[in-house]
Amino acid sequence: MELSVVFTLLTFVGLSTAASWGYEDNGASKWADTYSTCGQNSQSPINIETFDATLQASLGNMTLTGYDTPVALTIKNNGHTAQVDVTGNQYISNGGLSEQYKLAQFHFHWGSDDTKGSEHQLNSNAYPMEVHFVHYKNSLGSLGNSVSVKDGLAVLGFMFEISDSDNANYADLISKLANITAYNTSNLVSLTNTALMNFIPSNPTNFFRYSGSLTTPSCNEVVVWTVFTETIKISQTQMATFRTLMSSETDANNQQYNIKDNFRPVQPLHSRTVYSNFYSSSATAAYITVYTGLLSLILSTILSY
Ligand SMILES: *[C@@H]1O[C@H](CO)[C@@H](O)[C@H](O)[C@H]1NC(C)=O
Ligand SMILES: *[C@@H]1O[C@H](CO)[C@@H](O)[C@H](O)[C@H]1NC(C)=O
Ligand SMILES: *[C@@H]1O[C@H](CO)[C@@H](O)[C@H](O)[C@H]1NC(C)=O
Ligand SMILES: [Zn+2]
Repeated sequence: MELSVVFTLLTFVGLSTAASWGYEDNGASKWADTYSTCGQNSQSPINIETFDATLQASLGNMTLTGYDTPVALTIKNNGHTAQVDVTGNQYISNGGLSEQYKLAQFHFHWGSDDTKGSEHQLNSNAYPMEVHFVHYKNSLGSLGNSVSVKDGLAVLGFMFEISDSDNANYADLISKLANITAYNTSNLVSLTNTALMNFIPSNPTNFFRYSGSLTTPSCNEVVVWTVFTETIKISQTQMATFRTLMSSETDANNQQYNIKDNFRPVQPLHSRTVYSNFYSSSATAAYITVYTGLLSLILSTILSY
């Protein structure tokens, strides 16, 4: 996830010189030099081995509130991503969350081609894009208050998959990308009032859950992550439009890069556990494999007598 608000706040109060960071030239491998938290042990994103996830049926389903009401949205190019700021009252609750969290913004991570782009991976498979819906603990009152509190943020991640036809629900947002190709932190473009459920899969249900971090500096380990298995469909042409945005990063000749591969590589899981709220089919397949293996072992043992 991307949280430029944090840096704006820090810069404003003079706590930081807002050291620049980026993705080009293996940029993410250098973040920990400046932002030490990026080198800690509960970082995001991760590769989720779906077979290793621990089923926790008590997580139940997540409840999305207000996602069905059309709301005013603005989109901006903050130099690292296209970010949609949300006004209105959208909340998530249940799904194992300790309380209600309020939506602040959503943004995207994408690749230079369709073989990569997502931050999270499932069984070492990357997707062409991942969207993050960033929520903060409602009781803390603001994103700024929540970014340094354990479990202060709850982020929903959804993967994109390429389809043959355009995703009509994304048509307005993608057409407005043409208005924000320039990197300019202050350019905000209004989207047509839209219910946010149009930007996510219909009835998202199955998810993985783990404790992690912001995926951009300063990598605060404050995020309750929810990565859904249901995907959003997008055409190759729509996907390519994201790559026309211009980055805040420049090359040795001071030429701006396009924003691409704005995903952090997967981080070590270390001692963390990934939970799921559903029986994953690959887990079932693995059980069958183990079961079959045991059977043949027993059979061969019997036969050897
Ligand atoms: C969760 O949602 C799914 C899909 O809508 C539904 O089939 C299931 O019964 C729900 N589970 C619970 C515990 O409500
Ligand atoms: C977006 O770009 C189109 C095409 O250049 C232009 O007609 C429109 O006025 C722009 N809208 C905004 C909000 O900048
Ligand atoms: C940046 O955004 C502001 C406010 O929308 C606009 O007036 C200005 O022309 C933009 N500058 C560039 C370089 O795009
Ligand atoms: Zn993100």
